[in-house]
Amino acid sequence: MDKFLISGGAPLVGTIHVSGAKNSALPCMAAAILTEDEIVLENIPHVRDIETERKLLASMGAEVELVDGPANPHTRIRCATLSDPVAKYEIVKTMRASSLVLGPLVARTGMARVAMPGGCAIGGRPIDLHIKGLEKMGATIIQEHGYLEARAERLKGAHLVFDKITVTGTEDLLMAAVLAEGETLMENCAREPEVTDLAALLTAMGARIEGAGTSTIVVRGVERLHGANYRINPDRIEAGTFLIAGAITHGDLTVEGCNPAHLGAVLDKLREVGARVDLLGTEAVRVRAIGPLQAADISTEEYPGFPTDMQAQYMALATQSEGVSLVHENIFENRFMHVQELIRMGAHIKVDGRIATVRGPAPLSAAAVMCSDLRASASLVLAALVADGRSVLDRVYHMDRGYERIEQKLHGVGARIERVANAPVSQEEEALTT
Ligand code: UD1
Repeated sequence: MDKFLISGGAPLVGTIHVSGAKNSALPCMAAAILTEDEIVLENIPHVRDIETERKLLASMGAEVELVDGPANPHTRIRCATLSDPVAKYEIVKTMRASSLVLGPLVARTGMARVAMPGGCAIGGRPIDLHIKGLEKMGATIIQEHGYLEARAERLKGAHLVFDKITVTGTEDLLMAAVLAEGETLMENCAREPEVTDLAALLTAMGARIEGAGTSTIVVRGVERLHGANYRINPDRIEAGTFLIAGAITHGDLTVEGCNPAHLGAVLDKLREVGARVDLLGTEAVRVRAIGPLQAADISTEEYPGFPTDMQAQYMALATQSEGVSLVHENIFENRFMHVQELIRMGAHIKVDGRIATVRGPAPLSAAAVMCSDLRASASLVLAALVADGRSVLDRVYHMDRGYERIEQKLHGVGARIERVANAPVSQEEEALTT
């Protein structure tokens, strides 16, 4: 298990580059299931969740090739035959987004067996809305032995209204609908940029989709899809994390290769707390924090609201802002695991249900802390960057699920951070904590 050693106190100065969006890459890789032709994806981040998805596709019979190198790294996926349309528990338990293969597998092969994802550190991750949608499209679904088995000769277009907005649910059913017979009308869809990314790839494969990025999507099913090349959009959560790193360290950081249009709520909040934020063209944002930061409340919402995936990082910033910041978590029921660790570093935070009250500024002191999930880890890195002394972050494999070479990137702009290699984590331990 690797650890990070971080000595706080250095302002981050310079330019940092954003990788491709993990949460776009995952559904786009799953979309390759929908065709026997080759799908070529560029700008896929080198993170552990992507490795897991490569394994998942390969275990089902897909040819997956990572073509690395400085010129034009890309991933080639060909699902000519899918000999074993099963997402096994060993893989699903380490990455809940594995349920994204459910829709495309049924649509392409008429059958899917996917391990039920179970709960995870940030709360239950039900997939009832995926199931409900597929059933409406004519699939027969049975659940036994911890697996969900879906079958359908050919899915049929349907009118789907999501009871609750779900990102991967929207993506899963969108992939099911593109090969269904007839029209599917999807309402109350997620509007996240990752849904739009997936829809753009599907359209390049020959799908007929209207309205992606809005809450109503209309899909006209086609008989078959063909191969395509697609470049994944930049990761807005990685970009947002770096912007907060610039602000919290009172640095001068340019976050390059991002899409500021996808960062609206985060940029607004940074301005509200008193950071100076300048857009440099359409692909870079410069953040500076000169004077003291001021408290400001956040409330996590579906896109375009403030992302739940930025809540933990924002909380680290709030510990350094003057006054009281209220942090409302509306999307997941148990997404405050970073709080206890931040308190151990000296933060003043009280949690009552889904609301955390953060009183700042609190001088943070370095400590040995434990990462508990992907974004909680990012929050602890941010706190350690301003803590007095050297912090030791354990279980950084959580970080590696979604951030590419973060220690190298942060080191490049002045952070005193290093990775120390340690014993590998056991599968049992990993399953308990992802
Ligand atoms: C995706 C993102 C994750 C982000 C989350 C919310 C990926 C791979 N992951 O996760 O990083 O934090 O969106 O922006 O894209 N729900 C149900 N039934 C369902 C599905 C979801 O009740 O069938 C609930 C969930 O418990 C949660 C809410 O809906 O409370 C939103 O979840 P959802 O949008 O589905 O999250 P994910 O797609 O898993």
